[in-house]
Amino acid sequence: MPTAFITGATAGIGAAFTRRLAADGFDLVLLARDRSRLEEAAERYRTTHRVRVETLIADLATDEGLAAAEDRARHGVDLLVNNAGFAQRGTFLRTDVGEEVAMLRVHCEAVLRLSHAALPGMMERGRGGVINVASVAAFFTRGTYSASKAWVVNFSESVLRDIAGSGAHVMALCPGWTHTEFHDRASMDMSGVPGFLWLDADELVDAAVRDFRRGVPVSVPGLPYKAFIALGRALPHGLTTRISTRVGRRYR
Ligand SMILES: NC(=O)c1ccc[n+]([C@@H]2O[C@H](COP(=O)([O-])OP(=O)(O)OC[C@H]3O[C@@H](n4cnc5c(N)ncnc54)[C@H](OP(=O)(O)O)[C@@H]3O)[C@@H](O)[C@H]2O)c1
Repeated sequence: MPTAFITGATAGIGAAFTRRLAADGFDLVLLARDRSRLEEAAERYRTTHRVRVETLIADLATDEGLAAAEDRARHGVDLLVNNAGFAQRGTFLRTDVGEEVAMLRVHCEAVLRLSHAALPGMMERGRGGVINVASVAAFFTRGTYSASKAWVVNFSESVLRDIAGSGAHVMALCPGWTHTEFHDRASMDMSGVPGFLWLDADELVDAAVRDFRRGVPVSVPGLPYKAFIALGRALPHGLTTRISTRVGRRYR
């Protein structure tokens, strides 16, 4: 059986990836910080889907967590889903600088180190790959969050070029607003977001898996979000940054 390694597997989009990949018959390596949620999820998939499940309790904002995850990614992982992430409220100078650095570690350093560890084995086997969960925010300006996600998109596209012809694939997944624990954890008031803009995590993941299999480099599920990105690229850059900063201020 192929093995999928999913970071941030206990909630939201990561849990949806876990459900989908277990149903597809993947053995699982699940990473998060909360031991009891991780073990509860692992037991559920062992019972319901009869797949092998390993758990890795690790904080990807720490040296030890990154090293443990990197070590596991080096051995026999066929599909790596770099999904763990979080949001922050507030403008740059009002946020704690340690939290900003932690965000870069989880969103960028973990993606870089785990991809670097996992890809050589995938290329040797001539199959598999990496899905890096970025965001529609990557195409707009929303502080360290959008900057880190822009890095994820650029990094994924660059690495895909580097490994062209190897049989392995790298895809950046750019979700728009999706119902998960993400906004509640950051105490963000999202009541003003219209219903049609909310994505369902399971549908998002089905679209992502479809795009990954088709070799899409940057997956943007949902027509409204494809349109936002096209519009953002068509408008003058200064106008796009003004609009995205104003919209961003509403949701923090
Ligand atoms: N929801 C959205 O609207 C949305 C939109 C665009 C992009 N995204 C991106 O989608 C990804 C998943 O977000 P989500 O919405 O599914 O969030 P979520 O429901 O809050 O789940 C986050 C997951 O990441 C884990 N995690 C958080 N910090 C971690 C750390 N330092 N080390 C290890 N694991 C950590 C959490 O488990 P523990 O707390 O137990 O560690 C949890 O399993 C993120 O990269 C996010 O930026 C989300």
